[in-house]
Amino acid sequence: MNEICTVGILGAGTMGRGIALVFALHGYDVLLADRDEGITKSAIAALHKRKDPEERRLVEEHVRPVAVVDDFSGCDLIIEAVVEDMEVKKQVLADLDRVCRNGAIIATNTSALSVSELGRSLSDPARFAGMHFMNPPRVMRLVEVVKGEQTASDTVETICEVARGLGKTPVVAADTPGFIANRLLFALIGESLRLLERGSAAKEDIDTVMKLGMNHPMGPFELADFIGLDVCVLIMEQLHDGLGDDRFRPGPLLESLVAEGKLGRKTGEGFYRYE
Ligand code: NAI
Repeated sequence: MNEICTVGILGAGTMGRGIALVFALHGYDVLLADRDEGITKSAIAALHKRKDPEERRLVEEHVRPVAVVDDFSGCDLIIEAVVEDMEVKKQVLADLDRVCRNGAIIATNTSALSVSELGRSLSDPARFAGMHFMNPPRVMRLVEVVKGEQTASDTVETICEVARGLGKTPVVAADTPGFIANRLLFALIGESLRLLERGSAAKEDIDTVMKLGMNHPMGPFELADFIGLDVCVLIMEQLHDGLGDDRFRPGPLLESLVAEGKLGRKTGEGFYRYE
């Protein structure tokens, strides 16, 4: 088993900063970077505003912003959480491959891109896997560990062990579009969109059915707003292309909200408005 002490996280957006928090709270040293230094700074500022004094202390002690991926050279585990785009992620992985130390594990937080294909950008794909945290990483108890065609079993085992140490339950998934979590979630979101587009039900009623009838904590439209509608479109396109199933088509309603810049909670409006 590889010892993991220092973790590099590339991408300081919604997920990157949340993953950084989880590692810091469990005593790992974390280096956080983004191509946009302003985003790294705002992530650090948000982390330093944690209400709980002990959490604040751990974050201040353990999370360090860095400007370039070269600073990840001493990391034992590097997780990329950049935008859900195959070409961007491949480029980022090739850069990480150049700087990471021999034996380091590289992981992707991709929601739906092929881990096997991403791994082809690396000199040692055996040491690469999906480590898919759910949003928000601090709260959600699952980590989906995705085994690409070339991922070694001990890489999967190390990532599962790290996830357990973070208080999460790992589930190992095969490298199929959307893995387990997003294949199931976006079947629900896709069907909800079809009901709404056809005028068969109101979005509030669809959300109410899932919350009160199925005991889901959030309805599918509330959850889509929480994930980010731009991220939802990217995931649905992957699922649609990969599985050829029309239920995963983003469809006109979701696409028009994204075109208008209504991306959900992060922009203050999506399916719903937020203060
Ligand atoms: P986000 O848009 O909030 O953050 C992405 C960050 O990546 C941005 O700060 C951007 O500046 C940075 N970035 C883009 N290109 C870069 C590059 N070349 N080098 C360094 N940084 C770069 O997106 P979010 O939601 O954090 O998603 C990140 C990843 O996590 C995606 O793969 C997404 O599918 C996945 N994910 C998202 C979840 C969600 O609910 N939003 C849940 C689970 C996984």
